[in-house]
Amino acid sequence: MSNDREHSLNRRDFLATGLLVGAAVTAGGLWLPSAARAEGNEFGLPELGYAPDALEPIIDKQTMEIHHGKHHAAYVANLNKALKDQPKLAGLTVGALLVDKAGEVPSEIRQAVINNGGGHANHSLFWSVLGPKEKVKAAPTGKLAEAIQSGFGGVEKLAEKVNEEGLKRFGSGWTWLVKDKDGKLHVYSTANQDSPLMQKHVPIFGIDVWEHAYYLKYQNKRGDYLKAIWGIVNWSEVERRYDEELLPDTGKEKDALKKAREAK
Ligand SMILES: [Fe+2]
Repeated sequence: MSNDREHSLNRRDFLATGLLVGAAVTAGGLWLPSAARAEGNEFGLPELGYAPDALEPIIDKQTMEIHHGKHHAAYVANLNKALKDQPKLAGLTVGALLVDKAGEVPSEIRQAVINNGGGHANHSLFWSVLGPKEKVKAAPTGKLAEAIQSGFGGVEKLAEKVNEEGLKRFGSGWTWLVKDKDGKLHVYSTANQDSPLMQKHVPIFGIDVWEHAYYLKYQNKRGDYLKAIWGIVNWSEVERRYDEELLPDTGKEKDALKKAREAK
């Protein structure tokens, strides 16, 4: 996966590159000041990074087009709409809105920011951790491979656990592989568009289990979709996230998170 997708999600980049869509965010991009939106600018839809039919037959072209071009685009539009009259929040990254500055998000737009900011972050990750089967490497290597081996007993066991969590998730949500502040891996699911960032975990890999992600091809067989998707994991990107992405670590952020949770 090329590094040109490793940028922020803002309108400034969108305009600078002249692309119809912005570039994908990384979890680090969510935290790093350099990835903050320019004041007054809006979030943009990141590029898919491959053709909409590139993940066939595991994810069909029509699903990709609707998922990226309609569903993800709607999260971006609704996030911008929610933040439209919030000059104090201008320039903040999605990570800041969900964690560091969550306590500063007014209560009347807080859920909209969680839903649409989370939706934006989650889908941006999703596109980047998948790739055409012929281009992605078949298995993780290096530190991530070691951590998966010691934490779960190997990739197959990890996949079973991630899929089990995805199957158990009632209704809509995501199943995740995340890294905590000590670098330890965990697997769990979240409801709706809640992001692991809200728990101060860095998402390393995630699978969208909303019906919009699989229903055209798999109908009610969520388990078949979950099994199939492991054939198109972009392990290079998952490794990069494991190796490089950092959590914010300040008391201020913790306080903001606590306040946000209490206010929910
Ligand atoms: Fe989705």
